[in-house]
Amino acid sequence: MATNRTFTMLKPDAVENGHIGTILEKISASGFKIVAMKLTQITKADAEEFYAVHNERPFFGELVEFMTRGPIVAAILEKENAVSDFRTLIGATNPADAADGTIRKLYATSMGENAVHGSDSDDNAAMEGAFHFAGREMF
Ligand code: RTP
Ligand code: MG
Repeated sequence: MATNRTFTMLKPDAVENGHIGTILEKISASGFKIVAMKLTQITKADAEEFYAVHNERPFFGELVEFMTRGPIVAAILEKENAVSDFRTLIGATNPADAADGTIRKLYATSMGENAVHGSDSDDNAAMEGAFHFAGREMF
């Protein structure tokens, strides 16, 4: 059964480019309820752990560098079918392939700097949320 929560980060590029407000508005307008949220900066160790699944890939160093270069917005979102619906809302990893109207189509600048993260499974959503938030910060 699909859970009703997913985890997202507005990545450093989105924050640097002043897109926090517009992206959060789009997320809310798409029916997601914010149940946890913070502006924070992740450490290199955090990024290496968070993206450990990619540590053999050629872009790993670049990814860690990018994700740690400035603040991000971390949030947990609630909606029926949250993981899958949020992946649809953000669009393909590469903005050149992302559907019109998706967050990455609108705000990503490249495959690497693609504005937003969305969990890819219910298990990862739960783990990623717990990685960033204490119990008393989740509502
Ligand atoms: P995310 O985990 O951030 O939501 O992105 P995703 O599922 O759409 O893509 P994933 O395959 O998990 O890749 C994680 C992030 O690594 C960067 N990337 N760069 N230069 C490249 O070829 C490349 N490929 C992936 C992106 O920032 C991607 O979101
Ligand atoms: Mg991913």
